[in-house]
Amino acid sequence: MKENSPFTPGNPAPVELFVGRVEQIEEILKYVRQTASGRQENVFLSGERGIGKSSLAAFLRHLVDMDNFLAIHVFVGGVTDLEELVRRIFEQILKETNKQTWFDEISGFFGKYVKQVDLFGISVSFNPPQEDLEGLVRNFPEALKNIMEKIKNEKKGLFIVLDDINGISGTPEFANWYKSFVDDVATHYTDFPAFIMPIGIPEIRDVLSAHQPSLMRIFRVVDIDKLSDKEVNEFFEKTFGKVNIEVKSEAMELMVGFSSGLPIFMHEIGDAIFWRDDDGAISEEDAASGIFDAAERIGKKYLDPKVYRAIRSERYRSILRRLGERAINRFKKSEIESKLNKEEKKVFNNFLGKMRELGIIVPDIEGGRGSYKFVNELYPVYIWMESQNFRKRTITKNKTGEA
Ligand SMILES: Nc1ncnc2c1ncn2[C@@H]1O[C@H](COP(=O)(O)OP(=O)(O)O)[C@@H](O)[C@H]1O
Ligand SMILES: [Mg+2]
Repeated sequence: MKENSPFTPGNPAPVELFVGRVEQIEEILKYVRQTASGRQENVFLSGERGIGKSSLAAFLRHLVDMDNFLAIHVFVGGVTDLEELVRRIFEQILKETNKQTWFDEISGFFGKYVKQVDLFGISVSFNPPQEDLEGLVRNFPEALKNIMEKIKNEKKGLFIVLDDINGISGTPEFANWYKSFVDDVATHYTDFPAFIMPIGIPEIRDVLSAHQPSLMRIFRVVDIDKLSDKEVNEFFEKTFGKVNIEVKSEAMELMVGFSSGLPIFMHEIGDAIFWRDDDGAISEEDAASGIFDAAERIGKKYLDPKVYRAIRSERYRSILRRLGERAINRFKKSEIESKLNKEEKKVFNNFLGKMRELGIIVPDIEGGRGSYKFVNELYPVYIWMESQNFRKRTITKNKTGEA
């Protein structure tokens, strides 16, 4: 029987399996240190979905916690109003301090709205009436300052992650509230050791700027992108090593190549391979079958909704099948075009435009004019698998039709 997989597709990486991001960590820690001297700092952590923002935040939280900050990671995805946002921030502070021996010093702050519950494994909750929450929204700097005053003998400062603000950024209130908070702190407090890091996808920057043109000026923007192949390699070594599984070098090459530097892919691939293996060593075959499983999983999650279900045109679909006749990660326009019928040729340019717009392909500069490549190594595998399935389905249908 296999034990649990050490891979965590979709969940923030556990600290011991975290790799890379060395530069970003150094940069952010530099700002955190400045916070300790009383200067309020704001970092906007930006990156595409699945690139590893939450994992980086969790890792930083761990480091900063060890360095004696009161560090909280607040999940605010889906939150759309400021009252709920501040409620979650203070509830998380409450949870974090509740574990400490000096909790009594600040428990007064939360007043009678703290519930100690052990039902469902929830230790404490913070549920003040709407009126009080509105007060906390309005007097946010003062409320934070009060907490920091109470803990200043124990902690260097506050470290707050707001993960993620995609939802709440849709409202103009958030951008204006944040800007007023920063202005207020700058004009009224000389010592305000709070570091705040909202997290969002890159587009959120534009959304925030549209709502409050000067907001982005207060943020130091830190961007994260793909991991290097070396880091992905390190990740597989560490993670398979943790469960004493050996990885053959040919297998490693496949795993690293198909991961395409994308953290979410390396977890899906690693997880699928883990379950394929049955002898404690990852062979090339284990890796190959696991990669097909992962391509299927990723394709169903990302390509089905974005491409297969979104594209209604039968001509587009048949072009996509032609494109999938061979599992290739790059192609020349003319090559594919020569396989198309007259009708398909007419819409081929539009098709390519659509695929670019959907973020499936990009122009391949190295390949020269009219060359394209897929944005990663797994999408073409899925597209190839779909073409194969379609062929199988039509062959079976024709056979049964004849019988
Ligand atoms: N630096 C990393 N090291 C190891 N695994 C990572 C790393 N960054 C992300 N992951 C993994 O990749 C997946 C997506 O990461 P996540 O942090 O949830 O991304 P985001 O918050 O940007 O959507 C998760 O399975 C996570 O465990
Ligand atoms: Mg996230």
